[in-house]
Amino acid sequence: MTRLRWGMIGGGEGSQIGPAHRLGALADGQFDLVAGALDADPDRGRDFARRLGIAPDRAYGDWQEMLEGERNREDRLDLVTVATPNATHFEITRAFLQAGFHVLCEKPMTMTVEEAEEIVCVARDTGRICAVNYCYSAYPMVREMRAMVRSGQIGKVRLVVTNFSHGHHADAADADNPRVRWRYDPALAGNSGQFADCGIHAMHMASFVTGDQVERVSADFVSAIPSRVLEDDAMVNFRMAGGTVGRLWTSSVAVGRQHGFDIQVFGETGGLRWASEQPNQVWYTPLGGRTQIIEKGEPGLSEDAARLSRVPIAHPEGFPLAVANIYVDLAAAIRGETRDGIPLAEDGLRSVAAIHACVSSARAGGQWVDARPPMFR
Ligand code: NAI
Repeated sequence: MTRLRWGMIGGGEGSQIGPAHRLGALADGQFDLVAGALDADPDRGRDFARRLGIAPDRAYGDWQEMLEGERNREDRLDLVTVATPNATHFEITRAFLQAGFHVLCEKPMTMTVEEAEEIVCVARDTGRICAVNYCYSAYPMVREMRAMVRSGQIGKVRLVVTNFSHGHHADAADADNPRVRWRYDPALAGNSGQFADCGIHAMHMASFVTGDQVERVSADFVSAIPSRVLEDDAMVNFRMAGGTVGRLWTSSVAVGRQHGFDIQVFGETGGLRWASEQPNQVWYTPLGGRTQIIEKGEPGLSEDAARLSRVPIAHPEGFPLAVANIYVDLAAAIRGETRDGIPLAEDGLRSVAAIHACVSSARAGGQWVDARPPMFR
C-alpha cells in the first residue's frame, strides 16, 4: 500500500501540539511528511521543514505559498493538518478544502458559528473530509467506555461529569509569555479562553462517550488573573438532548493539577471513570457491586479499543498514540473505508456553538442558553 502524502501548517519548532501530530501521523507508516508551512516566521518555518526532511521546494514560507505550490502538483497532498493558533483555522481550512484537500484542523475549528457552518457546508459540497483533532476521544479506553455505554452496560445515562483543569497558566508573572498570552487574547483566541482551549475537549468527550448531544448550557466564567480579558476558569452546567445532565469544570489556574482531564459517566445500573493521566484504565462500578479496573490490552475488550492499541497490556500508550489513532482512521477514510468515531466538522461546529452559548450565558449571569448550532435546530 502506498503511503499517503501529508502536509502541515503551523506546529513549528517549539510549538505545543506540533510534535504530537508528527509522532501521531508517522507512527503507523500510513503518511509521509512531504510539505509544510510550519511557522509564523517564514524563514524559521522553511529551516525547520528542511530539518524534518521536507524537500526544499515544498518547505514553504506561509500557507498561501503552500496552497499555490501544492494545488496543481500531480503528487498533491492527501491530507493537510492545520495546527496554527485559533484565529487562522477558518481561512486556512476553507481554502484547502475548496482546493480539494482533505483537512485535519485543530480545535476550536473556527472563531464564529457562521464560519463553522460554512466549513461544514464546504466539506459537504466538496466531498472532502474535514476532521477536527478531538484526539482524546481516540484513546483505546475511551473507546472502551463508549462501547460499554452503547451496549447498555451502565443502563440509561443519567449524569456525565467532566473536568479539564490544569495549573499551567496560574503564574501571573508569566501571563505575558507569548505562548500563553494568545490563548487569552480575543484577537487570536476568539471570545473564550480556557473553555475554548480545554473545556471543549471535555464537552466533546461527554457527547462522544454518551452518544448524546448538548442542547442547553449555563456557564460561570472567571478571569482569576485579572489582566486577562478572557476567562481562565469556567464552570458549565449542561443538558443533553436525550435527558443526560452534564457538569463541566475547566481551569488553567488550578495549581497542582497537571493535565487534569477526566470524565465520569453515571448510568441507572453502573458508573464509569476515565482520566487522561491513567489513560490505560477504565474504572467500572456496577450498581451494588465492587469497582473493577479494566486494563487496555486485556482480553474481551471492544473491537475498537483492541484495534486502537498497539503494545501489550500494562505498557503505556500515551497522547501521541491517541493522535496516531485519529490519523490511522483518517488514512482509512481517505482510502475509502468507513470509520466510525472520527471527529468531523459537524463536531467542530457543535463545539463552536457551545463556546458562543457559554459566553452568552456567562455574560447573562448564568442564564440557560440554547447551545445547538442553528443548522441543527
Ligand atoms: P503554539 O503557540 O505552541 O504554536 C503555534 C505554532 O503555529 C507555532 O509554531 C507558530 O509559529 C505557528 N504559526 C502561527 N501562525 C502561523 C501561520 N499563520 N502559519 C504557519 N504557522 C503559524 O500553539 P499550540 O499550543 O501548538 O496550539 C496550536 C493549535 O493547536 C491551537 O488551535 C490549539 O487550540 C490547538 N491545540 C490542540 C491540542 C489538542 O489536544 N488537540 C493541544 C494543544 C493545542
